[in-house]
Amino acid sequence: MARVKLVNIVKRYGRIIAVDHVNLDVRDGEFFALLGPSGCGKTTTLRIIAGLEAPDEGEIYIDDKLVNDVHPKDRDVAMVFQNYALYPHMTVFDNIAFPLRARRKQLGLTEEDIRKIVVSTAEFLGIAEHLHKYPSQLSGGQQQRVALARALVRKPKVWLLDEPLSNLDAKLRVAMRTELKKIQMKLGITTIYVTHDQVEAMSMADRIAVMNAGRVLQIGSPNELYYKPSDTFVATFIGSPPMNLIPCTLVEKTPIEYTVPAELSGGILGSGKVRTPYMLECPGFALPVESSMAGKIRESGAGEVYLGIRPEHITMSLKKPGELAVLEGVVEVVENLGSELIATIRVGNELVKTRVVGDERVTPGSSVFLALDARRILVFDKKTGKLII
Ligand SMILES: Nc1ncnc2c1ncn2[C@@H]1O[C@H](COP(=O)(O)OP(=O)(O)OP(=O)(O)O)[C@@H](O)[C@H]1O
Ligand SMILES: [Mg+2]
Repeated sequence: MARVKLVNIVKRYGRIIAVDHVNLDVRDGEFFALLGPSGCGKTTTLRIIAGLEAPDEGEIYIDDKLVNDVHPKDRDVAMVFQNYALYPHMTVFDNIAFPLRARRKQLGLTEEDIRKIVVSTAEFLGIAEHLHKYPSQLSGGQQQRVALARALVRKPKVWLLDEPLSNLDAKLRVAMRTELKKIQMKLGITTIYVTHDQVEAMSMADRIAVMNAGRVLQIGSPNELYYKPSDTFVATFIGSPPMNLIPCTLVEKTPIEYTVPAELSGGILGSGKVRTPYMLECPGFALPVESSMAGKIRESGAGEVYLGIRPEHITMSLKKPGELAVLEGVVEVVENLGSELIATIRVGNELVKTRVVGDERVTPGSSVFLALDARRILVFDKKTGKLII
């Protein structure tokens, strides 16, 4: 098993910076995801770790050993590609045996040793009955397992997976997700998993690095990324529907006084009895902001901000629920996702999405109230996108 560390990795293709000063520290046995939109540099980063691509700058360490000049074969890593890259003219057995046969002498293996390893790996992945078949005779999911088996026979220190499930249909993809995670946990193998699918990353990974335009924007556990996104890109890339971002302006007015109920305490409204001259003016509504919270916004120099709130932290109702952090709007669209409804509500000039819970009957055109869970409100600098609160 192994730790993988990237220090200031840069990779350019002509004028494109595919990987822009990337730093990662993947722990031993960790399931680590590289998540980001198409073209953000995920595959290039993975290929650099595998040694299939040389970085222009920076260092790659596997277990504290600098491997920049180590040949891919000697890095003890195994990569699984999106398109499986199985040899079509070889049986499943021969495909899985290939990495062992290629290095049989160095590994000191007899053909019987190889057979045993291939069979046990195939059994582990549930494809033992297909060993005599050719890849074209297998389903997509079975081919995927063959590719996984081929990457595992050499017991690599690090498993590199590049969108390994993207060719599977939606149902199989979900099933394989669970299975892959189980395999990884059973083997305890350090795994770096590339995907553009945030649900995949969120459901499988111990930690995730969110990438955009060659850069790593944030590294954290799924919960950290979800509840404390470092900027508006991460906030909207993770979660579905994404976090609502409402443009607002911090203003100073005649002070007002209010009492914050316990369930809203501790956020931008403050706690207990509050007196403050600060308001966030947003399209169609305004929210008071407790002075120390307003101070943080002013310190950052950002009067223009985005108020961020996740759809599940907004409660929609037909009757006005309270006084603080309540907006009024009109329902525009209601989407039925089976397990839940997503309502899009117009508030001022902005559209806000919320999950509908309980059996509130809402139809387009209804006037509704939206109560924001003030403890969950985030504030981002509108210019830089960075999280302030
Ligand atoms: N061999 C190459 N020659 C020139 N440009 C390349 C090469 N490989 C990658 N790039 C460019 O580098 C950038 C990053 O590509 P990369 O394949 O790493 O993205 P990715 O995050 O894996 O995207 P996807 O989700 O679409 O697979 C892209 O702009 C791509 O066009
Ligand atoms: Mg890619």
